[in-house]
Amino acid sequence: MSAFERRIKEYADRAAAVQGEGLYFYLQPVEAVDGAWATVDGRRKLLASSYSYLGLIGHPAIAAAAHDALARYGTGTHGVRLLAGNTDLHDRMEARIAAFTGSEASVVYSSGYLANVAAISALLGRDDVVVCDKLDHASIVDGCLLSGAQFVRVAHNDIAAFERALRRAPARASRLVVVDAVFSMDGDLIDLPALVEVCRRHGAWLMVDESHSLGVLGERGRGIESHFGLRDAVDVRMSSLSKSVPSAGGYIAGSARLVAYLKHASRAFVFSAALPPASAAAVIAALDVIEAEPQRVARLHDHVRRFRAALQAAGLPVRSDPTPIVPVITGDDEGAMRIARYLDDRDIFALPIVSPAVPPRTSRLRMTVTAAHTREEVDRIAAALSAAWREVTPALTEG
Ligand SMILES: Cc1ncc(COP(=O)(O)O)c(C=O)c1O
Repeated sequence: MSAFERRIKEYADRAAAVQGEGLYFYLQPVEAVDGAWATVDGRRKLLASSYSYLGLIGHPAIAAAAHDALARYGTGTHGVRLLAGNTDLHDRMEARIAAFTGSEASVVYSSGYLANVAAISALLGRDDVVVCDKLDHASIVDGCLLSGAQFVRVAHNDIAAFERALRRAPARASRLVVVDAVFSMDGDLIDLPALVEVCRRHGAWLMVDESHSLGVLGERGRGIESHFGLRDAVDVRMSSLSKSVPSAGGYIAGSARLVAYLKHASRAFVFSAALPPASAAAVIAALDVIEAEPQRVARLHDHVRRFRAALQAAGLPVRSDPTPIVPVITGDDEGAMRIARYLDDRDIFALPIVSPAVPPRTSRLRMTVTAAHTREEVDRIAAALSAAWREVTPALTEG
């Protein structure tokens, strides 16, 4: 058996074993979405693992903007932005993102994954040093690997370790630090004020991925700098546009010079097609809605506090972070999958997360609440999850 076949078989065997036990929950074909509810195979399920934190999927103003763009520009572009694929809509989208994030300019790629890979690999050269948190998103890791720079990963949120890594960098090396604002599988925040200090002391640029903080943290959902009362603390701002913003794509925002450089030197911009016009229009409309309807952010945080408090009261090991991502760690894959089964049987759509998405032996349910839920729905998810935890985890400890 070739190495290719061995790898493919290993995955197929793992999936088949889980499917055989009725514990496979991935790739469910959602047929319709209605607020916090999704229809799968004709069954309505209450979403408890959604990234649409502000509940903006289906918002009438955003949907109307996308429809208008479709009618005016069509379904696609004429290829890459640098050649025939640019539209005034793309330029307006980037100006809107720049205004929302308090940056001079922005550039949008066709996914958040690409934005990280493209920007990090375009900025860094072989003689440079990049320092990351070990829980940073995979797209950050891939950008660092592709860059060929010296790549250092430090313990999670260990600011002293960031400092040590920067101090050890060769004198002539340019230094970049890249972190998630909110860690996507754990829902906790980077200690941004302390990290900014360290970066300034060592002349390092700081890049922050706001995929899970845009629309969530800070005044009117402006993000982590606003949350900590900081201004101009981050050199390279990044976010996916497919979570609180119900579209697709990912941006890098920063100085006009940085953005002009990325538009000519980052390969995923130069060699990959533009975002479809309807998606660009949805981004502009969504940022307008986020600014105009701050009650959505307030409602989200109300739900976050309510959900976390209910789980803590039921004895689940849940922290009090101010984010909608609530990991419920079972350790092994089976516990996470059995809790997902219990919830699915009660029409709650929650997903188990296992390695390699998280480190081995830290398998979990990655629960979320959103502004689309009602309080009763938040309570219903918390009650079902607490009951599932009581039923499944003692069996695991005994086993
Ligand atoms: C922290 C973080 N960065 C980047 C990405 C990639 O974004 P996208 O899904 O738009 O490619 C994700 C999405 O999963 C993410 O969670």
